[in-house]
Amino acid sequence: MPTSSHPGSAPQPPALPHPPVARAAVAGIPSSRIREIANTGMAEKDVLAFWFGEPDQVTPALIREAACASLARGETFYTQNLGIPELRDAIAAYVGRLHRPVAAARVAATASGMSALMLAVQALVDPGDRVVAVTPLWPNLTGIPRILSANVERVCLSFGASGWTLDVDRLLAALAPGTRALLLNSPNNPTGWTIDRDAQRAVFDHCDRHGIWIVADDVYERLYYGDDDVCAPSFLDFAPETARLISTNSFSKAWMMTGFRLGWIVAPAELMPDVGKLIEFNTSCSPAFVQRAGVAAITDGEPTVAATRARLRHARDRLIADLQDLPGVQAATPQGAMYALFRIAGMGDSLAFCRRLVADAGLGLAPGSAFGPDGEGFVRWCFAASDERLAEGVARLGRFLDSRRERAA
Ligand SMILES: Cc1ncc(COP(=O)(O)O)c(C=O)c1O
Repeated sequence: MPTSSHPGSAPQPPALPHPPVARAAVAGIPSSRIREIANTGMAEKDVLAFWFGEPDQVTPALIREAACASLARGETFYTQNLGIPELRDAIAAYVGRLHRPVAAARVAATASGMSALMLAVQALVDPGDRVVAVTPLWPNLTGIPRILSANVERVCLSFGASGWTLDVDRLLAALAPGTRALLLNSPNNPTGWTIDRDAQRAVFDHCDRHGIWIVADDVYERLYYGDDDVCAPSFLDFAPETARLISTNSFSKAWMMTGFRLGWIVAPAELMPDVGKLIEFNTSCSPAFVQRAGVAAITDGEPTVAATRARLRHARDRLIADLQDLPGVQAATPQGAMYALFRIAGMGDSLAFCRRLVADAGLGLAPGSAFGPDGEGFVRWCFAASDERLAEGVARLGRFLDSRRERAA
């Protein structure tokens, strides 16, 4: 029977002795604020959306054809936990070309970059462990240790005229002895900040000295806009093969394969049997035809990567120049990834701002607070879009800010 404590108040269902709910660590994860904006905005007509981090083009034909050919051959069975040998070899060769030689035995194919991160943290982190993350950060990355009941300490980047910067001494101070792992995403989602070699070495030496694992999320390493470099600085360039380092990566961004769900891990050989066990308990393996598509991408997809990078670099320059022309907007050029996280004067609550922006201006951006408290006061724009869409988006933002100023006057 329903119970009601006050006459006239809505009847409350009786408290169940054994409520059918998830454990507290899972129930306590906040739902995505990007989704919150997108789910309402997607129902509206004529919304220009830049809220998700996704390339704006379909996967190149040569990659899709490799998946189709695999299916046509009837490759519909389980594969090895760590991936088919052809893919592990191809990834090892690719990592060797970009960084330093690695044995295929140190490579695992995973069912997405997301899964690679989950596996890495599952392999290392116990409940109650202390994990340090450089933030603002894609919320999935800070959510994983929380799901595993670990504690996450945030070390925030700072924003100034030259963009987002890291105070290395602050990070090293936070990486106190006893810390289990550092989660570092560079180039970073949502800021585009990219760690430089000196900082990388200082962080590596410190972690090495204190036995702290580094989980390097290298998903955006090829979307880096340094002048002659084809890749952002990576711990894989110099770390010894037995170092406490796991690099996670993905086919999603550089090869435009978000829907394929394929990624990889490079880890010390000693860890690989346990990574294989964890893959068994998570996904067992990635689909064979998806792995075949991965072989095609990594072997023959270098022109795709170069074209993606050039297109995004152009889009970045265009967007930042246009944003800098808007009064009240403070935007700096990101070094990598596909995002600008910029400040809007007097914005206050970024979630409320983004809700109004969708409703009143038909423009979909991600609220900075989606990336943690240190993202508040900012909004994120994914610039993987054509010139026309970007220009129309900036025009909508400009009109919205003008009318906001008029209302305030
Ligand atoms: C920082 C970061 N890491 C990892 C991923 C995972 O990508 P996927 O699961 O599509 O491979 C993403 C996707 O947006 C990301 O932004």
